[in-house]
Amino acid sequence: MAQEPLSQRTHTTLEAMAAVASDGNAAWLTLPPDAYCNPEIFALEKERIFRSGWIALGRADEVAQTGAYVARDVLGVPLAMVRGHDGMLRVFTNMCRHRWMRLLEGSGRKAVMTCPYHAWAYGMDGRLRSAPDMDRHPCLDKAEIRLEEVAHEVWQGFVYVNLDGKAAPLAPRLADLDPRLAAYGLKDWVTAATIECGEIPWDWKVMQDNGECYHHAGLHPETFQETFPGEEAGAQIGRDWTLLWTPAREALLQDGPDGKVMPGLFFPPLAGLDGFQRRNFLLVYVLPNFFIYLQPDCGLLIRVVPLAAGRCAMAADVLVPAATRNLPDYAERLARLVAFFERFNEEDTPVNTAIQQALESGYAHRAPLSHLEAHNRHVAWWVAQALTRDDAGQGALAAE
Ligand code: FES
Ligand SMILES: [Fe+2]
Repeated sequence: MAQEPLSQRTHTTLEAMAAVASDGNAAWLTLPPDAYCNPEIFALEKERIFRSGWIALGRADEVAQTGAYVARDVLGVPLAMVRGHDGMLRVFTNMCRHRWMRLLEGSGRKAVMTCPYHAWAYGMDGRLRSAPDMDRHPCLDKAEIRLEEVAHEVWQGFVYVNLDGKAAPLAPRLADLDPRLAAYGLKDWVTAATIECGEIPWDWKVMQDNGECYHHAGLHPETFQETFPGEEAGAQIGRDWTLLWTPAREALLQDGPDGKVMPGLFFPPLAGLDGFQRRNFLLVYVLPNFFIYLQPDCGLLIRVVPLAAGRCAMAADVLVPAATRNLPDYAERLARLVAFFERFNEEDTPVNTAIQQALESGYAHRAPLSHLEAHNRHVAWWVAQALTRDDAGQGALAAE
């Protein structure tokens, strides 16, 4: 990758990124617009961020039962999360060890995985069980064959994968977040619904940029600003994460079993949250592709996987504490929550689309960031340092 000569355009962008990386984005600027639409930059991101890092794939509770599976592609790699009959969660490449056919589609539960092409069959632990008409093969040892496993880690119930298998463990990097999230007990929440948004026409970094609360007043006057004024938002920045919070307006707080709580909940608030957690919604970003919107009764996990420069695929998982599913009117409440997501997503979609078009026009300039865009400043730094550091001895800049 770094061996290919990079274009002058890419060199110029990487030079700007190197400056951002070295001074911690002291100038509070976005990355150059080219960073959002240059295929050479995307190729570097793929190698240096997505293949070598931890990518959010879903929730362990999606495959809670033995034999359950969920098939999902990441960066063009077909993957499947599978719960073996031994109770172990594994992530496999979703391709047959015969001639590479996709084994699993969507989600479900199986006793064995049978390839739809020539019917090789695998146990849910990935071991080959049978391979019809392969007995005359000169050297095939069926006992040796198993689906390839991809490194995974479960943090707070979220399943992450590391495609190159070389990343340092994830949990220590997120240890400072754990106490802030402990009272929610996210490990025991369940995925109530998954909303597939499909391919979306903007860069994964535009999606990250849109994570700030500065745009509440302009874009979400009713959906957010009315209750959660964006100018009140706070931020805590870690090395690989950002935690944002926005308090509900004091006058709108309601009485709850544990004290004052934000209005507009879809379900009863979780017991045991502190006053801050009851009054604020949280946005937790673990770079590069995980964000969860979290309030006292529910959460939304937004999974964004890049497809190319300026294009990504998005899905939203609606999360609730497990006991919430027992409410008699659970289905109606859940439908209201899904409708709420769709409503604000419809507000964000044309904006993100227009921004990507502007970035690709050749006329966009680097932009100054508000103090309410600390997340954007951090993402710019984080991407810049990942792309320009020279830790492999052949960093992107070293190709100059
Ligand atoms: S490709 Fe799976 S059995 Fe042939
Ligand atoms: Fe928004």
